[in-house]
Amino acid sequence: MKKIASLLMSCIALSFIGNQAQAQDDLNWLKDAKHRAVHQLKKAADTYIPGFSPRSINHDGSVRLAHQEDWTSGFFPGSLWYGYEISGDKALASSARKFTLAMDSLQDFTHTHDLGFMIYCSFGNGYRITRDKAFLPTLKKGSDNLYKRYNKTVGAIRSWDFGHWEFPVIIDNMMNLDFLFWASKTFNKPEYADASVQHSLTTLKNHYRPDNSSYHVISYDTLSGRAIQKETHQGLTHESAWARGQAWGLYGYTMAYKETNNPVFLKHAIDIAKYIMEHPNVDEDKIPYWDYDIHNGGERAPKDASAASVIAAGLIDLAQFTENNAYFEYAEDILQSLSSPEYLAGEDTNGYFILKHSVGAFLYNSEIDTPLNYADYYYLEALVRYAKAKNIDLKTLN
Ligand code: GLY
Repeated sequence: MKKIASLLMSCIALSFIGNQAQAQDDLNWLKDAKHRAVHQLKKAADTYIPGFSPRSINHDGSVRLAHQEDWTSGFFPGSLWYGYEISGDKALASSARKFTLAMDSLQDFTHTHDLGFMIYCSFGNGYRITRDKAFLPTLKKGSDNLYKRYNKTVGAIRSWDFGHWEFPVIIDNMMNLDFLFWASKTFNKPEYADASVQHSLTTLKNHYRPDNSSYHVISYDTLSGRAIQKETHQGLTHESAWARGQAWGLYGYTMAYKETNNPVFLKHAIDIAKYIMEHPNVDEDKIPYWDYDIHNGGERAPKDASAASVIAAGLIDLAQFTENNAYFEYAEDILQSLSSPEYLAGEDTNGYFILKHSVGAFLYNSEIDTPLNYADYYYLEALVRYAKAKNIDLKTLN
């Protein structure tokens, strides 16, 4: 009897060790992704100069740099902060601080809604992680400048100051509300949150089609507040579903729900997720083509890793709010695809960007099948959210 009991105990112990080894194997992709990302970020931080962040790769192979007034300027400093967060590497923190503070004159920049991307991804992450008060003046003035773009008649924040539109609002603008919701609490400005809620409601009403896909640009009449044009800027056609636009919407409404607990926003995020996850033009790797209305059509159909990264980050949060594991599993599939050699750059290649294969503006022949700094930023954010949801400490995952 004793012998049987001891045999049983040995079997249980062996199966426990086996399960642990299996769990370790299952995390290999995440370990590799972390190490590759940190390696690339450290090289990039040593190569590029604060004030000029790497943005993408030009046709001739040179790296396109973003000056602080470029809408993408906050993503590289933000990625450095995430690099520090997942590794604890002090050199990365020091670089992140330099690249962030080099942009502090952005506090006087008022010409775009992208202040959220530019200031919150850089200064916001810096403050979240370090609580260093040096980041606060830019966050304070920047959020106020963003709020001042809100128009009460329209019920939305004006996105762009260029173009032929009277009052353009783009779906991307949902992303910049994150900054205002945070600033509302931090600087005791309830009007910032009120404007963000109204912007989300106005966008829901006018940007979305019955199938829950989104237009890119809506222009409003500032006298009546009515939507007067429904167009695209970066999509295939006015009526198509530009992939990154769908991703911005998914992430944006999930975040709006997180900030407000308003079930209308949660339902809308779920509707967008359904559109994305059930779309027939998405391949097995779950990385969308740059517009959902195209499918494997040769040269016109490169995939967009940036949209995939944003979708993954959004779905991980949505899974948490709905307790629906399908969202988490879809995000995991995306992250595993992005962490495969098809998308994850080899060490010291790709201008030290982390991911390959994104699309900026296809029909303008701009940034096609290139790395993009925002693909890297949201990939890192998704990895951080993924690890947190699974109780994995990325710092000690080696
Ligand atoms: N916000 C511009 C873009 O997504 O390309």
